[in-house]
Order: sequence, then structure tokens, then C-alpha cells
Amino acid sequence: MADLSLDFCGVKFKHPIVIASLETTNSPEVIRECVDAGAAGMIIKTLTDIEDMARLTQNSKYAILNEKNELIRGKVNKNFVFYSRSGYSSTSLREWIPHLIELNKYAQGQGSHLIGSAGGKTVQSWVDICRTIEDCGLPMVELNFGCPHPAMMPGVHGGSMIGQDPEVAAEVTARVCEAVKIPVVIKLTPDQSRLVDVARAVRDAGAAGVTATNRYTGFSVDIETGLPRLGGPAGIGGVWAKALSLRWVHRIYNELGMPITGSNGIYDHRDIVEFIMTGAPLVQVGSVLMLKGIKYLPHMITGLNDFMDSHGYPDVASMTGIASRAAVKDYAEQFRKPRMHSEIAADACKNPSCTICIQTCFYDALAQGDGSVESIHANCIGCEMCTQTCPFDATAMFTTSEEHRASKTFFQIADGVFEHGKFDKPFDRGIKLSKVKG
Ligand SMILES: Cc1cc2nc3c(=O)[nH]c(=O)nc-3n(C[C@H](O)[C@H](O)[C@H](O)COP(=O)(O)O)c2cc1C
Repeated sequence: MADLSLDFCGVKFKHPIVIASLETTNSPEVIRECVDAGAAGMIIKTLTDIEDMARLTQNSKYAILNEKNELIRGKVNKNFVFYSRSGYSSTSLREWIPHLIELNKYAQGQGSHLIGSAGGKTVQSWVDICRTIEDCGLPMVELNFGCPHPAMMPGVHGGSMIGQDPEVAAEVTARVCEAVKIPVVIKLTPDQSRLVDVARAVRDAGAAGVTATNRYTGFSVDIETGLPRLGGPAGIGGVWAKALSLRWVHRIYNELGMPITGSNGIYDHRDIVEFIMTGAPLVQVGSVLMLKGIKYLPHMITGLNDFMDSHGYPDVASMTGIASRAAVKDYAEQFRKPRMHSEIAADACKNPSCTICIQTCFYDALAQGDGSVESIHANCIGCEMCTQTCPFDATAMFTTSEEHRASKTFFQIADGVFEHGKFDKPFDRGIKLSKVKG
């Protein structure tokens, strides 16, 4: 049996699955349920002194959508889109204190951890909330620089607004890290392009790790009524977001090498494995448990364990980051890889007149021959589309010989097609091309 345990930022977890900060960690009863279901940790719903963020949770609204963008009725499958609005914990920090102390002990009794989450109104309130969390004995705190909702709240500066600004993010992180000894993990927002800069800034300010990522801000329309769902923009997530989250996990893992906990897009153990292989050994599961109930959690743990056993991974470290380390660094590296071409096996092709491979080849590399499909090696660029659209699995890829690779003159623009210099004028109008060489 695989060893699922891991050390994350100095805290030992019995396996990689913790419950994300959301409604399933918003009351002592459900947190206890998570512990009993075997969670390795629970991140409490963000504790706050921002009145409107607490009020928003009392006004939560959900639109769980299927692949047709209709409201789901009943069974939720892996294609779900979770469009919703919710704030931070609407129970005050003062009321939470005795529960934090008691629940932390309860969790630790079962080898689990209650983890703090903070979202303050001012820099001082971030510090105060985190000190309270530490004083209650919790071993780690997450700073929520990822929530999309404060940005839609007049007069509030929090969540993703902080997470989009490396300087402000670093300032809040530094102040909290000076004030507490427990590891501080920063939850990042994907609603930006500078996420790696923010991760670097908070690492340099003292963060022990980052969470990649919170959810996106979205907008969804009910086309029957012509109205926006939930009245306007809201948070959006689902498994569709996983590849976008992994892109950031991949970049942080390769460029910064700091501890990452993965969030945003997990439905089952297969998604968890993807996050781990990309570089996030600890993962957070959220909306899927809101939709399927806490009883779904043990299936994820068993699924992960079975996967590791059946694929020969002895422990979490042996899977962590393997895909990111195998990825090309850039397209220059990609271009150095040998060129491939496809060939159709005439005996495996059960219906040469179906022509789906020819229709989905955009490089003139497949042609209808006499009773079979012919491959034209010189045209095939090795895109592998035909290997996936062929219903008979009749295509295979081979390395293309030197003579059939694109000639060196391929990218030269033919003389006489346009006059050199003809288009220079419009570009000159106020547009600086100084960075473009040649
Ligand atoms: C209804 C709802 C409430 C949430 N509340 C919080 C919160 O209070 N604090 C926080 O850091 N993240 C919050 N999140 C974000 C989740 O913790 C998690 O990062 C996100 O849902 C992506 O993970 P998932 O794909 O497993 O749902 C919330 C998400 C949802 C759907």
C-alpha cells in the first residue's frame, strides 16, 4: 500500500486531500463531519472583519449548470459548472474562538488539522485574525488573496484585489509573517496575468507556500429569459478550470520551486493525481463536496491510493512534479524534437470511405487512394489529429526522415507577392516598434 503521507510547509498530513475553505468548513458540525470522513485537513471558511463579506454569505446564491448551460436537476456529473456567490464566514471571530480550540484538538486526535483562513479589512486586521488563529493552536494559516467578490463591493479592498498587486500582497504577507510563527500560505487569484510575480513577491515577503488557485470571476446568461444568472457577475469554477489552474501550478513549480497546494477544478482522484504530478503535493477539494456531500470524500482517498498502488508510485514525493519536470521549457526546445508523421494501416481501417481522417487533416497529408487512405509523409506535420478522430484506431505515428522535413526556404516570403515597404507607413503612426528587431 502506497504511503500517502506528506510534509507540507513543516506540517505533516496523513494524505494529500484537505477540504478547501468554503461552506463545508463554515460550521463546527460540518468540520467534525469532514474529520470523521478522513480529511487530512480542513481550511476554515475565511474569517473576517469585513461586514459586507460576512453579509454576502447570508445572501449566497448558486447556479449549478450542465454542459448546455442549463440548471442541473439531480445528479451532478464531472461537467458541472459551479456559478455562485458567497462571502466569508458570517460567524464572528469572537464566536469562532472556542470552536477553533476544540475543533483543532478534535482534528488532531484523528491525525487531521484545522487550518486557518483570513480575509481582513485593514493590514492590522489581517494580522489580528492570524494571531488569533495561531493562539487557538492551529498549525497553519491561509491568506485569502483570491476571493473574487470583494472587487464587486464598493469601499472594500480585499481578496483578489490584493492578489493582483504584488506590492500590496507582499506588504500584507510580510506584516502577517512578522506577527505569527505558524506557516503562512497565500491563496492566489487566477483573475490576472501576473500570478507568478505575485507568488514571487509573497515568497520573498516570507510566505511558506501558495495555493493555486481560488476561482475566476464569471458572467452567465439564461438565454430563455435574456437575463444574467444570479443577477450579475459571480464566482465560477468546475473541472473545466483545472487545466487553467495547472498552468499556474506548473509555472510556480518550475520557476519558483516553492510549496504549492492545488485548488480549483478537482472532481475525483484523477484530477488530484494531475495536480500532484504538476507540482502541488497537497490539494484542496471544495465545490464537489458541496454538491455530493462529505460522504464522497472517502472515494477520493481510496481512488488516490488505488491509483498509486496500480501505477507503482510508492509515495506522494515520487509523483510530485513529474509532469512539470518533463515539460519543454519553451518552443525552441519543442522545435528540436524529431518530426513525426502518421500512417494508416490498411488492414485496421475498416471503412476507407468514411474519410474522417482526411476531413480532419488540415495539411493535405492524407488522401483517398484506391480502396485505402494514403499518407503523404512530406506534408504530414505530425499533429496527431487523425490518430484521435479515426474510429478504428488505424493510425500510428513514426519519425519522419530528414529528406521529408520542411526545407530551409519554407519561411521565406516569396518575392513579388507584395511590395516591400508598402505597409511601413501605417505602422509608423505613433506605434513604437523599438522592441522588434530586424
Ligand atoms: C460557495 C463557495 C464559497 C467559497 N468560499 C471561500 C472562502 O470563504 N474562502 C476561500 O479562501 N475560498 C472560498 N472559496 C473557494 C474554494 O475554497 C476553492 O478554492 C474553489 O472553490 C476551487 O476549488 P474547487 O474546484 O474544488 O471548488 C469558495 C468557493 C465556493 C464555490
